Amino acid sequence: MLWLPPQASTTAQYVDPLFYFILYTSSFFFLLVIAVMCLYVWKYRRKEDGEKTSSIKGNHTIEIVWSIIPTILLVIMFYWGFKNWMELNVPPGNALDIRVTAQRWLWTYDYPKDGITSPELVVPVNTPVKLTMSATDVIHSFFVPQFRIKKDVIPNRYTVVWFEATEPGEYPVMCTEYCGTGHSRMLSKVKAVSYAEYTQWIQSGGGAEKPKEGVSLTEYGKSLFTKQACNTCHSVEGQKLVGPPLNGKYGSQDELEGGKKVLVDDNYIRESLMEPTAKVVKGFPPVMPTYKGKLDDSQINALIDYLKSLK
Ligand code: CUA
Repeated sequence: MLWLPPQASTTAQYVDPLFYFILYTSSFFFLLVIAVMCLYVWKYRRKEDGEKTSSIKGNHTIEIVWSIIPTILLVIMFYWGFKNWMELNVPPGNALDIRVTAQRWLWTYDYPKDGITSPELVVPVNTPVKLTMSATDVIHSFFVPQFRIKKDVIPNRYTVVWFEATEPGEYPVMCTEYCGTGHSRMLSKVKAVSYAEYTQWIQSGGGAEKPKEGVSLTEYGKSLFTKQACNTCHSVEGQKLVGPPLNGKYGSQDELEGGKKVLVDDNYIRESLMEPTAKVVKGFPPVMPTYKGKLDDSQINALIDYLKSLK
């Protein structure tokens, strides 16, 4: 309906009716008050010079009516909202546990039982999923519009949010807490799939993370470049984003903070992925997160190969 994105979770099914109730109630009274005001401004305007304002002492009936009706409406909104709030904040006991880590400017999902780390959140439909979230640097906020869930992700503390996807599909995950230059590009995806597909994904070790048959190393690197959100901070077309553009880098000299120069080769790229602040390119902030533990050797090779291919 009006303004809200399609519903894709059970949360949406109980959040939306309350949202519309508040929206329509407020709109109705806003229009009523404005209409009556305009009508009276016209009706009781001064019609001739020297006309005296009538003296009105009050009207109990009207005062009682305009106190009781809003009170009832507010109590309904409070009770309804409180019930929804409880629902939103208490995950079912059988929920699937997934860890979410937010950092400038990417999301990482850990499946503790299966030892999988993924840049995308893959979940089975019709299954409650509990997300335990934390941030490594500043405050971020986890938002999936189609699921109607949003929760701050905070350093040094865990926050929890849960949902049950009802429709298979891909839904955007957004950061809704301003967290620096890369904030608007801090995006990822939730993929809601059937239980069978989910099991298959888990068994393949987070499937999408392995190179497919018949895909060249360069192409694999290219897909990782987006999947791992490198493109959030690094352009491959020459623009400066948060980090330096990476086209034409391989084989060139990088000028570092402090004036030293370094040749961009395989080892330098590897080091920049594992220990990003070891060598910081001049004119850029030392904000890149480490990819240690997030990329295996074949993935690092693929990324290096992709960077080599960029002119
Ligand atoms: Cu993270 Cu905005």
